[in-house]
Order: sequence, then C-alpha cells, then structure tokens
Amino acid sequence: MIAACPEGVAVLGIGSHVPDRVVTNDEIATMVETSDEWIAQRTGIHERRIAAADDSSASLGAEAARIALASAGLAPSQLDLIVAATASPDYYFPATASLIGDAIGAVDVAGYDLSAACTGFIYALAQGYSQIAAGLADTVLVVGTEVFSRLLDWDDRSTCILFGDGAGAVVLGRSQTGGLRGFEMGADGSGGLLLSVAAAGNAHPDREGPYVRMNGPEVYKFATRVVVESAMRCLDAAGMSVADVDCFVPHQANRRIIDHAARRLGIDEGKVFTNVDRYGNTSAGSIPIGLDEAWRQGRIDRGDIVLMVGFGGGLAWGSALLEWTKERV
Ligand code: ACO
Repeated sequence: MIAACPEGVAVLGIGSHVPDRVVTNDEIATMVETSDEWIAQRTGIHERRIAAADDSSASLGAEAARIALASAGLAPSQLDLIVAATASPDYYFPATASLIGDAIGAVDVAGYDLSAACTGFIYALAQGYSQIAAGLADTVLVVGTEVFSRLLDWDDRSTCILFGDGAGAVVLGRSQTGGLRGFEMGADGSGGLLLSVAAAGNAHPDREGPYVRMNGPEVYKFATRVVVESAMRCLDAAGMSVADVDCFVPHQANRRIIDHAARRLGIDEGKVFTNVDRYGNTSAGSIPIGLDEAWRQGRIDRGDIVLMVGFGGGLAWGSALLEWTKERV
C-alpha cells in the first residue's frame, strides 16, 4: 500500500507513558550470560522499563491516552474511535482498546485492536487517518502499547536483552493545513516465523510460555533493507525528498539499524531521534513514545516534516510522513 494523503488529518494531541522500574544491562547480566558491554555495543540499549505486576498494555496505554487527550484539550467523550496497536494484548478479547476506553472514561466509543507487532503504530495511524478521511469518524485515539516483558523467555539472552514495556498515543482529528502526508506499508509473511510468539494474552503473567522467538541476524538484514526502501517509497508518494525531512523517528529496535538507515538515507544525525538506549524495543509503543519525546524536547516544531518508519514481526513494515501542526510545549 502506498499513497499520498489527500485529506487534512493531523495530530491534535500526544502523550506517552513508561513504567517506573528501570532494568539495566548489568541487572540482566545477573540473569543470563551477557554483559553491559555486549548489549550496548550490539544494540545501543543501556536500560529498559519493565511493567509492575498490576500494569498491563491497557493500563500503560490508558495513561498515555490521558496525556494525549489533555494535550489535545479534548474530553474522552469527544472521541469516536480508539485503535490500539499491540502485540501483547491483555486478552484475546475484550480488545485492549475497549479496556483503554473504559479506563479513561470514553463511554460508548468504538474500539478495536490491531496486531502488526513493531509496525503496529504505523498501521494504526493509517487506520485512524482512513476512518476520518472516509467520514466515519472525526476524532480518533491511536495508541501503541506493549508489555513485552511478559512475552520474553528471561533465560534466552538473544531476546530478553532487547525489549521493554511502554505506550504512546496520539489524538487524530481534521485539520485545514498540515497533518498526515503519506503512507507506505507492506508485509512478507514468508518470513513470519523469523520473529514470532505462538500465543498472546498477558493478563496472567504467571502462566507458562510461549515466548518471543527470533532469528536475530535475519531480522536484522530485513530491517536494514526495508527501512530505507519503505522511507524512500513513502517520500516519493508524498512528492517529497529526504531533504524535506526535519525529524526522523524510526522504530527503536537497535541503534545499529537506526544508524545504518540514517546513513543510507542521507539524513543528518541531528535529525534522527533515538531513545533505544533508555527503553529498548517497545514494539508498537516505540514510535509514538519517540514522537512524543521528540516534540516535548523541542526537536519538532510546527510545520516540520516528520518521517516515521516501523518494521518487525510479520515480517511487516510501514512508513508515515507527518507535517507537524502543534505549537511547541
Ligand atoms: N550476550 C552475549 N552474547 C550473545 C547475546 C547476549 N545477549 N546474544 C547472543 N549472543 C552471542 C550468540 O550466542 C553468538 O555467539 P556464537 O557466535 O558463539 O554463536 C554471538 O553472540 C553472535 O550472535 P548473533 O545473533 O549473530 O549477534 P548479532 O550481532 O546479530 O546481534 C542481535 C544479535 C542484537 C539480536 C541482532 O541480530 C539484532 O538486533 N537483530 C534484529 C533484532 C530486532 O530488531 N528485532 C526486533 C524487530 S521488531 C519486532 O517486531 C518485535
């Protein structure tokens, strides 16, 4: 799928939330045979956040949603729809989106989940855009939220070092100017089992596996190729070039993947937002958390063009171009 966005749909509000508990590489080195040096060198990750026992994808997502609504100056009742991107839902059903809606007091607001792993937020953003552009909704809350820590085999050093928990959310609404400018999305199911979890549903963290299984080197090769290709196709669709990009917010899986993509795309280091060092890979949470932090740190201003690229389980990928319309905090 590849398209420019003819309708004016912009980010009206944004927020993110991560759990308080910090787990450093040194702490992980007490659980599996690894070291701070190995993890930092191979991934750029120094620490990650891990959810408390009474937190879940719904509760983290609800907190991000409250902040996003406050930043939009909207009440929960003004939403028409909640789309929650998550690969670690609280339940098979009810949808995490429904639980988020209940937690924030969004009475009678439609909600559903979207499962596309680390690409989930980009796909969900496209859903939000489409529902508004088609006239089915005026205001959509798009949440990316994960508690991957409960899908990890904490004895598997090749995966447990990589992921963390967290959530980000945006409120989308109609706009006369700016907003979403283009999307490019795809998937290659032939590589699906290179990165998988055989079952989900993390409401009961004490249950037995199954866990994230990953062929790291193959996923790495896929990621380094697809980020560049997807970003270029998205820019083409929107009639833009790399020179138009003011801020690049890629999925935060691995610092080496981000650096490689930025180099190949020719994007200045100063325009690349990273927080993988502090949060690891928060899957569908990573892009909205990054977007929120980039804006709150003054890295994105009104009129700036933001390029977001997600990739991961599926194997799926997706890019979105957004003209930022909010004032600085
Ligand atoms: N500590 C120390 N040694 C380790 C660790 C560890 N945590 N993990 C693996 N090793 C060892 C391996 O056993 C291997 O040893 P061997 O050569 O004796 O067999 C050696 O390190 C090299 O292993 P590789 O897997 O080849 O290491 P690589 O340099 O590829 O790095 C990594 C592994 C970091 C996982 C990398 O492949 C990667 O980042 N892949 C992409 C991951 C990713 O982005 N996944 C998420 C996508 S998003 C989503 O949808 C969830």
